[in-house]
This record gives sequence, C-alpha cells and structure tokens, in this order.
Amino acid sequence: MGRGVVKNWWASSVKIAVFWLICAVIFYCSFQMALRNSNRPTISGSSNSYAEQRSALYAKMAKDLDENGAVFLKQGETSQSLSLSDLFTLKDGIVTPVLKAANPPVRANVLHLSTEYSVPISEAVKKILLPSFDKAIWFQNSSMYHFSMFHASHHKTPVPATEAEIEAEASAVKAITEAICPLHIVLDRVILTSTGVLLGCWQVVSGTDPVTIRAKLKAALPRAPTNQLYNEAMLHTSFARLLGPPNKLPEEGNQISGLEIFHELVNKLNNQIRGLKATVSELWYVEEYDLLALALNGNMKIRKFQLGCSKA
Ligand SMILES: *[C@@H]1O[C@H](CO)[C@@H](O)[C@H](O)[C@H]1NC(C)=O
Repeated sequence: MGRGVVKNWWASSVKIAVFWLICAVIFYCSFQMALRNSNRPTISGSSNSYAEQRSALYAKMAKDLDENGAVFLKQGETSQSLSLSDLFTLKDGIVTPVLKAANPPVRANVLHLSTEYSVPISEAVKKILLPSFDKAIWFQNSSMYHFSMFHASHHKTPVPATEAEIEAEASAVKAITEAICPLHIVLDRVILTSTGVLLGCWQVVSGTDPVTIRAKLKAALPRAPTNQLYNEAMLHTSFARLLGPPNKLPEEGNQISGLEIFHELVNKLNNQIRGLKATVSELWYVEEYDLLALALNGNMKIRKFQLGCSKA
C-alpha cells in the first residue's frame, strides 16, 4: 500500500474522467447535429418537396400538347372532361358560352386572384393571342381569375345538399380560412394543353401551401367527393380557351408547323409574364348553378372569405 497505489488510483480516475468527458462532448455534438437535421427537413423540406412536386407536374403538363397534338382542333375536352365544343357556340360570328344548369349546383372552393394582378395578365394574353385567333377563342373574365382548390360537390360525383347543409359547409370553410396565410406566388410558366386550355401554373414563395389548404378543406368538408379534380399540389388558373385553328395555318395538314405556331405564341407569352408575382388573400366558396359558371360567366353565388393569418 502507500503512495504508489494512490498515484495509480488518481491516474486511472483522471483517465476515466477524460474518457467520459470526451463521450459527453461527442454525444452533445451528435445530439445537436441530429436536432438540426431533424428540424431542417420538417420546416422547409416539406414545402420544398411540394414545390418540386409542382415543378414536375407542370413539366409533364407542358409536354401534353406535343404528346397528344392539338386535340381541340378536332374536339377537345376541358380539364373537367367536358367537351369544349359543347360549351360554346358561334352566334353572329361571336363566341358565346352555352350555359347548362348544374343539378345539383357544383360547390367549389377556389382561391381568388385579385384584378390588381389578373387585369395586366389578361391584357397580355389578349394582345398576344387575339391577332392569331380573333374568333376562335374564349378569354377568362379577369374579375373571375381563380385557382380551383377543392370541390364539396362536382358534376362527376354530385353531392346534393340542403340550404342548411350548404350554410354549414360555408361556415366550416370560413372557419379554416382564418388559419390560412395569404400566399405569395410567382408565375412559373404558361402552358397550352392539348385540349386548348391556356393555363398559368404558379409556384408558392411563402404562405400556406395548396397541399395544406386542400387538406384543411377536406377535413372541413367530410361529405365531399373523394375523387377530386386536381392534383393536391397544383396551383393553376386558366387564362383562355382556344376553340379552333389560328387564322393562318402555315401549311395544310402539316402537323409539326401547326404545333409550332402554338409553341411560339406560348413562348411569347412566357417571355412577357413568366416570373410575375402576386399575393392571394381571398378564398371563395362558390355555388355554380351552371356548369363551369366561374369560367363561362354563368350563374353562381359567391361567398368571399379573407385569409385570416397575417404572417406570411
Ligand atoms: C365579368 O365578371 C364580372 C363580375 O361577375 C361581371 O360584372 C362582368 O359582366 C363579366 N364580364 C363579362 C364580359 O361577362
């Protein structure tokens, strides 16, 4: 016994202490790293992936015209599978919508784009397309630019509702809009579908993501059709519907140059309005008494709700 033993004991205690200290430091560092890694994807990663989902979807939609050709030159269908030629008629050389009663009325929830943004877009669309399609085109009313979110009832799966049930739906929708933040968005690209619908496809910069908005609407409207019409991440608004060939087709029966005309017009429009920024701060609960009333200036009843969350 004696000093030697005490010295050894002391030395090994220091070794053990140092060992545990190093362990603690390593543990603390990896714990912090794990915390940071687990925070990052849940905060910005999911909205990044919604943005990626939208980009992939828009890229796919942009290929539709090349893959399927200009179907609207024969007989196109809309994105809601209604034939375009059934929706319009030419009266004294003027395109007029054919309004068909929706029974029961369609109940749509849409985000509204204010005229502050829609009027300049509408002007650009008209300026570029009118010279090529003076008659065979229908322009979306700029007071009614909208992004379809979620249907409480649609023409494919009608969900009849009493006046009281409709009031209850509207109140449920109003309640959730109070927790939705205004969306700051940017026009990602303009697309012409094979059915002749000219669409603006938007990306979200900040605010509540459309995926979240649709999920909230779904929860608030449990009787709604399970088959909804649009992809959950999609944020689109239709600008115009082409109803026939352009005034001057370059070559009879030349498919390629026919499509090139459309690509050229879409490119021109993209060069002018792509990147445009807008803020969306209203959600509308719309009873459409005619099919596609929002698109065709049909009969409808609109309830307008301000998005209530201010931090966006
Ligand atoms: C566009 O919509 C507004 C608001 O509903 C309406 O007052 C106006 O008449 C519409 N324009 C056309 C051309 O139908």
